[in-house]
Amino acid sequence: EKGGFDHFMLKEIHEQPKAYRDTIRGRVHDNGRQIDLKELNITPVQIQNIRNVHIVACGTAYHAGLVGAKVIEQLVRIPVASDVASEYRYSSPLITPDTLVIVVSQSGETADTLAALREAKAKGAHVLAITNVVGSSIARDADDVLVTLAGPEIAVASTKAYSSQLIAFYLLGMYLAQVRATQTEDDIAQMIMALNALPEQVESMLENSDAMKAYAEQISHHEHLFFIGRGLDYAVAQEGSLKLKEISYIHSEAYAAGELKHGTLALIEEGIPVIALVTQEAVLEKTVSNIKEVKARGADVMAISHEEHIAGLLKSVDQAFAIPKTLPLFTPALSVVPLQLLSYYASLARGNDVDKPRNLAKSVTVE
Ligand code: BG6
Repeated sequence: EKGGFDHFMLKEIHEQPKAYRDTIRGRVHDNGRQIDLKELNITPVQIQNIRNVHIVACGTAYHAGLVGAKVIEQLVRIPVASDVASEYRYSSPLITPDTLVIVVSQSGETADTLAALREAKAKGAHVLAITNVVGSSIARDADDVLVTLAGPEIAVASTKAYSSQLIAFYLLGMYLAQVRATQTEDDIAQMIMALNALPEQVESMLENSDAMKAYAEQISHHEHLFFIGRGLDYAVAQEGSLKLKEISYIHSEAYAAGELKHGTLALIEEGIPVIALVTQEAVLEKTVSNIKEVKARGADVMAISHEEHIAGLLKSVDQAFAIPKTLPLFTPALSVVPLQLLSYYASLARGNDVDKPRNLAKSVTVE
């Protein structure tokens, strides 16, 4: 049942190329220049009228929403707010009929997310669910469903569901941009090419997982570490940090790289591991400055970036891991993979039950 893998989590990490392909398939027009989301009920007129977007979810799905928010804001130029469902539902959210509420849930059964959906619907929003389970409560109650085709996810720590949610957000963002003409057809065509390349790029990273395994064994002896990044890298850092905590029980914090000096730098001491995500070219030099701040205080820094930046980064960091090149917007779908491997191998090195971490349930149907 684990298909030759030692754990469901590792199997599911390796199923990501297929999950990406299945989630993309049928949603890209044959001409490679348009997105087709035929399953959606929302009309082009309703899409034109959207004034703001709320993205609501729990846990890892919330982290996918953080990426989704940046994707939609950049491609469609409408304001997007993300919140965890347990806060959103009690926050008297500012909803009008022109608000699109996107709920994200692997299982489609998370109690707080379902309640948030109902609250949003009652206030007149159009609710679109991104879920992995077609017949789930959330899928049934939403006005629209965009299904991720990741297949069943058994390991408690979510991997392929998260990354497929990213793919769903890319498709949705591109589709909204197409309808509202905020991106040209050439832009969309270029994005489709990059999207279609992702599955093979993930495969190439999975073939080279030894470096991450070795690094995981190294950090497995630590009790605290940091993830830093800016923009989309910060969003992925938050997921990497959660994954590591969930299954290795190593305490970590994800920090917006530029915010470290406003407090957290006090915790950086000799030998503490810092994992720096440095994939966003527009802010690369800024993150390098933050890396220097932690290096000066003795941190042991691992950078994750594109091949072309590795040689330069190695002047400031202790180790570096290269991920394949894609559009800046799509890097989360690649950069999360080494972080998943890191958590998996760190958990293994510490002798934990990888697929069933303590105190966590796969699906939380209580509030
Ligand atoms: C949690 C799971 O309690 O629920 C997390 O342990 C998950 O892994 C979260 O991200 C949300 O679940 P779902 O099914 O709504 O995506």
